[in-house]
Amino acid sequence: MAHRTLFLLPGDGIGPEAMNEVRKLITYMNDELGAGFETDEGMVGGCAYDAHGAAISEADMEKATAADAVLFGAVGGPKWDSVPYDVRPEAGLLRLRKDLELFANLRPAICYPALAKSSSLKPEVVEGLDILIIRELTGGVYFGEPKEIIDLGNGQKRAIDTQVYDTYEIERIAGVAFDLARTRNNKVCSMEKRNVMKSGVLWNDVVTAYHKAHHSDVELTHMLADAGGMQLVRWPKQFDVIVTDNLFGDMLSDVAAMLTGSLGMLPSASLGAPDGKTGKRKALYEPVHGSAPDIAGQGKANPIAMIASFAMCLRYSFEMIAEADRLEKAIANVLDKGIRTPDIAEKGAPTVSTVEMGDAILAEFKALAA
Ligand code: NAD
Ligand code: IPM
Ligand code: MN
Repeated sequence: MAHRTLFLLPGDGIGPEAMNEVRKLITYMNDELGAGFETDEGMVGGCAYDAHGAAISEADMEKATAADAVLFGAVGGPKWDSVPYDVRPEAGLLRLRKDLELFANLRPAICYPALAKSSSLKPEVVEGLDILIIRELTGGVYFGEPKEIIDLGNGQKRAIDTQVYDTYEIERIAGVAFDLARTRNNKVCSMEKRNVMKSGVLWNDVVTAYHKAHHSDVELTHMLADAGGMQLVRWPKQFDVIVTDNLFGDMLSDVAAMLTGSLGMLPSASLGAPDGKTGKRKALYEPVHGSAPDIAGQGKANPIAMIASFAMCLRYSFEMIAEADRLEKAIANVLDKGIRTPDIAEKGAPTVSTVEMGDAILAEFKALAA
């Protein structure tokens, strides 16, 4: 039997609720399909801070590093709003991304046909939408130094964040975008702000040169990131793959989430470079949404983003392409049947709980396997 190690970090808020629905799939795949997943579980975020004063322990960092893939729920919440900056829940996620060198964050935004009416945009704008945002995840203003608040001594303070990009960081994320575009509609749009930021100038130059040297068969366009946000809302179907930096990618993917109907729909994969010997990539899979403190503990969370993140894990970490396709098909079928958590339901329409949605997807997945 295959041995596939998964390290689960459910986190805070709705993270554990969504993760429970993936656990059911893992159990089924082990028991009935001989998938051979070996799971271990740790703590990240506010729960880890409460337990050991850090957003992730060294022991759990080691387990995350050793695993074939990490499944991550969500972190954060008002309970930890005033904890010191370096140990706040989000620091656990940032450390995982940085230490595991997960530089490539794939955020697909797919509008399932059944949900075209759930978007805040007109159905014809989003129907059939299938775009992929590639967000650079280990550089830029998230990690640049200096990053500090200085007391100027005159009753004033100065806050500094630093946006830094080196050529190699831009080249490797552009390479991921061009490679993936070749498996889709062969179009990449690069977004930056070269009109005001030096990093935008370098980003644009490097993407252009890298394209010319290695990927000139792919169609490349450039857009200023603010205009890109506008175009995503105006006519998102013009895009295939979007490649952008860490902060713009964070914002643009939240915008893209609403095109699909809800933040509760958007999965993501964070990948490292292939290992020189084994070709394996370090990887973490997580929904784009956060811990949703406003609905945590109420059984209202939509587990689809987490389940679809697991489908990405099957595809990118384990090459279980048929199973990944089947799981995504199960999600689509459940939506076609009109099964809805509150975030994607039309006003007044009946809704199901997190657990019921997970059960429905598992049942559909089983039916498709039969
Ligand atoms: P959020 O994504 O947690 O919630 C935004 C809105 O979307 C809320 O109204 C929430 O109810 C809704 N929502 C999100 N996921 C949903 C789901 N699966 N089903 C139904 N509705 C859903 O963002 P926020 O409120 O800005 O942040 C809350 C906390 O989460 C903060 O501490 C933030 O730092 C953290 N956060 C964590 C991650 C992560 O762990 N990857 C991502 C974003 C935000
Ligand atoms: C995301 C989140 C994170 C980010 C936070 C929680 C650190 O918003 O994954 O989109 O800003 O990258
Ligand atoms: Mn975000």
